Amino acid sequence: MTQYEELMQEALIARESAYSPYSGIKVGSAILFEDGEIITGCNVENASYGLTICAERNAMTTAIGLGLSNPVAIAIASRDGLPCTPCGACRQFLIEFNPEMDVVLQEEKNLSVIKLSELLPGYFSLTDKQ
Ligand code: THU
Repeated sequence: MTQYEELMQEALIARESAYSPYSGIKVGSAILFEDGEIITGCNVENASYGLTICAERNAMTTAIGLGLSNPVAIAIASRDGLPCTPCGACRQFLIEFNPEMDVVLQEEKNLSVIKLSELLPGYFSLTDKQ
């Protein structure tokens, strides 16, 4: 199994923990860090819908709390065989930490990989790197 296949496996496991009684959509994410560590997250919904936290931001905030801040790739899993690209808020949130992060998505048979910066051209940043 390739490293990104393993990362997707972790996202699929995390998906099972989703708390999504309102949408019924389960999302899992797994972020690979420079040192090889993997941190996962799932979506967590709320009766006050707008408070919902996506799987990607859940994983990233957990990682920051653990002192990890150099993500190199994120795998996202939702419905089997269909890509679940990160929502706009998650793109902006994640790009803070590494615009060149690989985003690993499920496809019908294989995985696809796209750079986060390709998913959010012209993103807002307080530096001139964009
Ligand atoms: N969701 C995620 O967890 N990540 C995304 O990038 C897109 C949407 C969740 C939020 C909500 O619980 C459900 O999917 C339906 O929008």
